[in-house]
Amino acid sequence: MPDALCEVRSHHRAGLFAARNIPDQDVSDPDRRPENPPHTIRLGLKMLTLGVATSHAPAILLPVDDWPRAYELMRGDVAQPLSAAQENAATNAAAKRRIDANLARLRSVIQEADPDVLIIIGDDQAEVFGSAFNPTLAVYCGTEVSGHTLPRFADQPGIDERIDMKCGAEFATALATGLVESSFDVAVMTELKPLSKPHGIGHAFTRPGRFLGIADMGIPIVPVFLNCYFNPLPTAARCYELGVAIREIADSRPERVAVLASGGLSHDPAGPRAGWIDCDLDNWVLNKLREGQGRELENLFTVDSGTYHGGTGEIRAWITAAGAFDTLPAEVVDYIPLHHAVTGLAFAYWQRPEQVNDQLAQQSAS
Ligand SMILES: [Fe+2]
Repeated sequence: MPDALCEVRSHHRAGLFAARNIPDQDVSDPDRRPENPPHTIRLGLKMLTLGVATSHAPAILLPVDDWPRAYELMRGDVAQPLSAAQENAATNAAAKRRIDANLARLRSVIQEADPDVLIIIGDDQAEVFGSAFNPTLAVYCGTEVSGHTLPRFADQPGIDERIDMKCGAEFATALATGLVESSFDVAVMTELKPLSKPHGIGHAFTRPGRFLGIADMGIPIVPVFLNCYFNPLPTAARCYELGVAIREIADSRPERVAVLASGGLSHDPAGPRAGWIDCDLDNWVLNKLREGQGRELENLFTVDSGTYHGGTGEIRAWITAAGAFDTLPAEVVDYIPLHHAVTGLAFAYWQRPEQVNDQLAQQSAS
């Protein structure tokens, strides 16, 4: 790490930026409007440092011996493609090793980035929300969240785990404020009261919180709920612009910010295409991200094809992350179309180049 950046980081830790006059925000109080909203404060620092994207299928956390049971549960009575018959205990064990290696790599880039706050863009599948209330976009601005990693398998001792994660409430409030001012009409939550299931926050947040070690690292999260499952769904173009807005807000903040897209790629667990994986779609998406052409995903869901239904809609989280990093090519770590996971598993990240960090350090020092 360059010395200048170390200096910036140590000042940061020492509270240099805390001394700056950033107004307190309370978006739960409609009468309290900040005189100088956070996203209009320009500190000259680009603080969005890292983006990570990962599938969150239960197989990622489940022991490989439990995959057949999970596969059976999620595919139901849907006839399976011929390629599914090629998976067996040996290929599953090899896939599990690949998954674990991919997770280790993502954990290391998160550790290296050392973010002050991690925005998790994830969906809710009738967990916190439900028929009584189902927002297109919501930001959780509380101080902590809890949930279970594998509620479907909670009857099997030793597999399901409760997870507690602290949250970056101050940043979340600034993010919600900035998004509203950027014409995103977000629902703002300062309490988490699940409407549908009693477990707490949903699997899109708890599973990566566990398998990427976010809770263990003590990184405060900011849950951003993005509807990916239930009509009416946000367009891909809107998701991309959401990512752009997130970047602009993060870049105006003193915190080192990372973004995590949780979900995808093609899958339809317990749906009419359960176990079928659209490799062509997944590879096209990954290639666009790899080439820094995420904006070409803006029309992805324009055609209402059945292949876009179900969990495949979670690609919206990836498109949002792509918007946050725009033309920066993603490092696609791996893609594993795995019938036993009922998902095209994918892992990727975006790292801002070191020279950008150097420029930030120089700007801060001047
Ligand atoms: Fe999901």
